[in-house]
Amino acid sequence: MARKFFVGGNFKMNPISREEKRTLLKVLNSADVDPNVEVVIAPPALYLIPVKELLRGDFKVAAQNCYVKTSGAYTGEISPAQLADAGIPYVVLGHSERRTLFHETSKLVADKTRAAIDAGLSVILCVGETLEEREANRTKEVVEEQLKPVVEVLKEADWSKVVIAYEPVWAIGTGKVATSAQAQETHADIRAFLSKAVSPAVAESTRIIYGGSVNAKNCKELGGQKDVDGFLVGGASLKPEFVDIINATR
Ligand code: G3H
Repeated sequence: MARKFFVGGNFKMNPISREEKRTLLKVLNSADVDPNVEVVIAPPALYLIPVKELLRGDFKVAAQNCYVKTSGAYTGEISPAQLADAGIPYVVLGHSERRTLFHETSKLVADKTRAAIDAGLSVILCVGETLEEREANRTKEVVEEQLKPVVEVLKEADWSKVVIAYEPVWAIGTGKVATSAQAQETHADIRAFLSKAVSPAVAESTRIIYGGSVNAKNCKELGGQKDVDGFLVGGASLKPEFVDIINATR
């Protein structure tokens, strides 16, 4: 079965006012979008429920993070079970900002992925190399090292619940997008890894999306690559051009 194109908007810690949030939602709710694209919006945790209530029914909502535990004394954390109970279907895990600024290891990201899937959530699982790692020709190795613990903990779990976001750290928020050839090469490597480490069927059906300085100008070429099944968009998801990105393959 063909992989459905997937476009995620990661608002990160934006917007800072409820008024800005309402303006953004107006743009999204009135947009003419390709019905063949799965669109998922990840607002800050504070706005998950209002965004879910105000957002058009054909778009979904994602949390930007969750913890591994179901409940307990974990001040400041949100559990996968709480997200599922609130009707939030997706969670972003392993974003490079979580890995770098909040010291999340690949093992923790893998355990969170397992916990999220066990709670019934779908996961947008982020991987990607730093500039130093790319310049040392270590991209494939680094991405595989990030994926291996996930493969180990997921075992026979339902991989249709996982979307892999390849986000080179050097391209995030920098305006320095990966070339379509660079994105395609790493996406193909990830698919080959899944084929060996999980199964050819999972490799064929798993969406692998690209993130890092995607905008209205570069999305068509990137989205035209054989193994690029969509985008995870940061900065541009806060602007009207996000609609053009959703429609990249139309
Ligand atoms: O999650 C989204 C990525 O970090 C990309 O962010 O589009 O602002 O580069 P960006």
